Amino acid sequence: MIHRDTTSKPMSTRRPLAMTAIGLALGWALALPSVAQDAKTIATAVCGACHGEDGNSAIPMFPKIAGLQESYIVKQLRDFQSGRRKSDIMAPVVAALKPEDFLSLATYYSGQKLKPGETGDKKAASFGKMIYFDGNEENGVPACIGCHQPQGAGHLIYPRIGGQHVQYVTQQLKNFANNDRSNDVSRFMRVTAKRMSEEEIQSVAEYLVELDAK
Ligand code: HEC
Ligand code: HEC
Repeated sequence: MIHRDTTSKPMSTRRPLAMTAIGLALGWALALPSVAQDAKTIATAVCGACHGEDGNSAIPMFPKIAGLQESYIVKQLRDFQSGRRKSDIMAPVVAALKPEDFLSLATYYSGQKLKPGETGDKKAASFGKMIYFDGNEENGVPACIGCHQPQGAGHLIYPRIGGQHVQYVTQQLKNFANNDRSNDVSRFMRVTAKRMSEEEIQSVAEYLVELDAK
């Protein structure tokens, strides 16, 4: 038997309003995380293969991007897209992204927790530590800590370099030295890396890998 409730009539006119309000509230609540969700979807589908879904790449030639400064990530993605920073691997990846994806991916990866690695050469790491804190007056290498901060944590335009793979750090310093990477606005890293000896480059990388940068 169909029960017809005539008393529900005034309710049914009020109900859509209430539903709309709840719908709006839910919409607001869902709108914020959905930005991160999009980034996470891209991170899982695209970036994760090389950088790890949480930004802790397991492959030494691919940088760990977890905990990198948000503005630094956006700058790098723009530089890969414009060709200011050259990479045959990253160029096709960014070509497929929309500019608005840059910020959401940067927010996502900068919020991930870095997992530092281990050095295979403690002796080199302790020499690298001296370079990091004091630089080298003889060849004019500046102390890295001045910009990259204690534990290599970085700040704003100065990237987090603590915990990074040895192979990636040595490659980037060589790239700066050879002008293969030339997207440092002030040329500071190109000048610095040119002054560094092979041993200094390798040693500072061995020191950085173990730093638990926050
Ligand atoms: C096929 C492997 C691969 C994929 C996929 C990939 N990357 Fe990369 N990424 C690299 C390599 C290699 C570099 C280092 C490029 C260089 O300078 O030689 C890099 C560099 C970067 C850097 C600069 C890191 C730094 O410390 O300066 C960022 C940021 C980055 N990738 C973000 C992303 C994002 C976001 C995605 C997904 C949309 C992505 N990558 C997908 C391989 C990859
Ligand atoms: C005056 C500030 C300054 C000092 C001092 C400095 N750096 Fe940098 N470094 C930067 C900036 C800025 C960048 C980012 C360049 C860009 O925009 O791509 C950078 C980038 C880097 C990168 C690349 C990071 C990545 O994720 O790709 C490495 C590695 C690095 N620096 C190592 C060092 C080492 C080692 C020293 C010390 C010998 C040092 N830096 C000293 C400013 C500095």
